[in-house]
Amino acid sequence: MDIAIIGAGVIGLATAWRVAARGAAVTLIDPAPGGGASSVAAGMLTPVSELAYGEEPLLRLGLASRDRYREFAAELEEATGLATGYRADGILEVAFDADDLRHLEEVRRFQESLGIPAEALTGRECRKLEPMLAPGVRGGLLAPEDGAVDPRRLAPALLAAAERHGARTVRRRAAEVIVEGGAAAGVRLADGGEVRADRVLLAAGPWSGEIGGLPPGVVPPVRPVKGQVIRLRSRVPFLRRCTRGVVRGFPIYLVPREDGEVVVGATQEEMGFDTRVTAGGLWELLRDARELVPGITELEFAEVSAGLRPGSPDNAPVMGPSALPGLVIGTGHFRNGILLTPVSADILAEALLEGTVPEVGRDFTPERLVGAP
Ligand code: GLY
Repeated sequence: MDIAIIGAGVIGLATAWRVAARGAAVTLIDPAPGGGASSVAAGMLTPVSELAYGEEPLLRLGLASRDRYREFAAELEEATGLATGYRADGILEVAFDADDLRHLEEVRRFQESLGIPAEALTGRECRKLEPMLAPGVRGGLLAPEDGAVDPRRLAPALLAAAERHGARTVRRRAAEVIVEGGAAAGVRLADGGEVRADRVLLAAGPWSGEIGGLPPGVVPPVRPVKGQVIRLRSRVPFLRRCTRGVVRGFPIYLVPREDGEVVVGATQEEMGFDTRVTAGGLWELLRDARELVPGITELEFAEVSAGLRPGSPDNAPVMGPSALPGLVIGTGHFRNGILLTPVSADILAEALLEGTVPEVGRDFTPERLVGAP
C-alpha cells in the first residue's frame, strides 16, 4: 500500500514508522520534518495536569499513551541507536499560594476519584524533593509515573526509524489532496509535483484545515494556539524532575534535561498563525517561573521560540478515517501531542492499513465533529 503523510511532526513521523514497519510504502511530505510545534514542545508526559474537568476520555487516552511510552522509546532507541531523552521519574506539581493549593487539592481529589495515584506533599516535602523551590511554596502533588521525553531528539529518531523501513521524505509543502473518483488518490505539492498514494494521512497540525482539494465538511476546524517557550541552560544540576506550578492561577512548567537544558513554558494564546515571540509572553513566563524557582535568574539564556498547537473545537485529538474514502485525519492534539504520540501512531496505523479504529481511539474519530463518513 502506498501511503502519503502530510505533516512530519511527531504524529506523522510516528505513524510513518509504524506503517512502514508493516510493509507500507510511505512518503512523508513536509518542508521541515520534526519542525513546528514538535521542535518547540517541552515534552512532558503528564496525562492529568494538562486536562480540563470533564475530559475523562482524553485522560484515558493519555494514560494509555503514557503507559506505552517506555516500550515505544526503548524500541525506537534500539532501532535507531538514537536517544529520545525518555524519563519516567515523576512530575512534581506545586502550589504558590493558598488559592493555588486549593486548586491542587481539587486536582488530587479528581485524580483519586479516577483511581490515579497522586501523593499530596507539604511545602517542606516538596523542597526536600526539589531544593531549588522557593521557600513560600505551599504544597504539592507528586505524579510518580509521569515523566518526559525530549521532542528534539524524539522527532529525528522517529524519522530515522521510518527511513530505515524505506519511508521517503519529500521536503516540500503540500498544497492539496488529489481526489479522483470520489476518493483521495495522492497529494499535489505547492510547486506542482505530485505524490500518488492509496491512502493519505492529513497530519499537518494547525495547518490541516489549510490543505486544499477537499470537499467541505471533511476536515473539522483546527485552530492554531500559540505557545511561547524559553530554553535556559544550567552548568550544575538544577531541578531533578519536571516541576509544574500554578502561580496565582497561571500554570507554568520547568522541564530539566540531563544536558543542563531547562525548558520553561508556556503561554497559551489564540493569535492565529502568529509565531512572534513577545516581550510580554517572555516576561510572564520568567515572572511565574521565578516565583517557584528563584534560582532560574542565574541560568544562562539559550533560546526563545513559539509554536502552534493544533486545537480542535473540543480541544481533543481528531483521529481516524474521514468522510472522504482513502483520507485519514490525525490532528487536533492541542497540548498533548508529545504525550499522545505512541497511542496516536497505533490508532492511525490501524486506520490507514485496515480502515478501522481501535477501542482506545473510538471517542476521538472525526465524525464526532463533522458527521459520519
Ligand atoms: N503540553 C505543554 C503545552 O502545551 O504547553
